Amino acid sequence: MRHLIDTTDISVAEVDQIINTALDIIDNRAKYAEACKGKKLATLFYEPSTRTRLSFTSAMMELGGSVLGFSDAASSSVSKGETVADTVRVLGCFADIIAMRHSKEGAPLVASHYSRVPVINAGDGSHAHPTQTLTDLLTIRREKGRLDNLTIGFCGDLKFGRTVHSLIKALSRYEGINVVLIAPEELRLPSYIRREVCDKNNVPTREVATMEEVMPELDILYMTRVQKERFLDEEEFERLKDSFILNPERMKAAKPDMIVLHPLPRVNEITRDVDNDPRAAYFRQVENGKFVRMALIYTLLKWAEEQPVEGQTPRLRGEEVHNDWRCSGRQCISNAEDVDKLFHPTAEGEYRCAYCEARVK
Ligand code: CP
Repeated sequence: MRHLIDTTDISVAEVDQIINTALDIIDNRAKYAEACKGKKLATLFYEPSTRTRLSFTSAMMELGGSVLGFSDAASSSVSKGETVADTVRVLGCFADIIAMRHSKEGAPLVASHYSRVPVINAGDGSHAHPTQTLTDLLTIRREKGRLDNLTIGFCGDLKFGRTVHSLIKALSRYEGINVVLIAPEELRLPSYIRREVCDKNNVPTREVATMEEVMPELDILYMTRVQKERFLDEEEFERLKDSFILNPERMKAAKPDMIVLHPLPRVNEITRDVDNDPRAAYFRQVENGKFVRMALIYTLLKWAEEQPVEGQTPRLRGEEVHNDWRCSGRQCISNAEDVDKLFHPTAEGEYRCAYCEARVK
């Protein structure tokens, strides 16, 4: 059974296949109108969402399927203490595919270990957001015509921004990618991503203090919101929240064909008067999210039909089980629910949690 928990669960060729399917859907909507007729998508959203949940819903409806689920965990039996593992075992009786968003990092991976239907990670804590990445890749393909030989600046909250983590992982598999990181000291990209993704894949990566110093070089500026909900210290959030603001004055220094992406929601990091600049691609990006989720649902259901369902025991992916170890991740599912503690060794001889990628405590 194939799931999408991390961007790298699918090969570059499979990413291209999904993007090409999305492009075919855009050109031939009627052809896919009954592609998932009789199939059901369960949307299990333990954390707020506008775009992801509703684009999944809209995607399944446009494929001729139907949707069930919850958008507030308090209205489900989770509020009575039901675990992620039990919840997906139950949902497998009602639905053909599951999209899950959770504030605990690694919750969708736990779900995939117990589910008899494909599980899609719709965002887990600050960790990963692979379907936003597919959205971003489709948008870059449509706007720039390629996924290689690009200089991309990531700006804002690179520490908690799960969309940034997933997109860097995805782009590092293409040739000629240059990454520029524009963030305050406190919100820098986690060092393991820089080391184990960028450095390992020979992706030139540099950190700069201001947007101005790199604006003329960028093909893509990927703006992000400072994520208030992830901060423990409100004073720190207040101090950092206005660190980088994109406005028309700053856009003057950008290339005429640079594009501005943002996973949204935005707060004030892009001023409203940038919206009418043709380079502002973030609302076109939202619509691409629906098309790429249509392609993903269609593809995962096709793969599920081709591959026999395995037993309902946890299926590990080469990780080691150490139930006497503890993950250092504050928001890791392994510190919230009774799950096997899974770790994988790194090239540096450390162990990293399979759920949230934090180190062993
Ligand atoms: N981009 C994104 O994940 O938006 P939502 O939180 O509204 O789903």
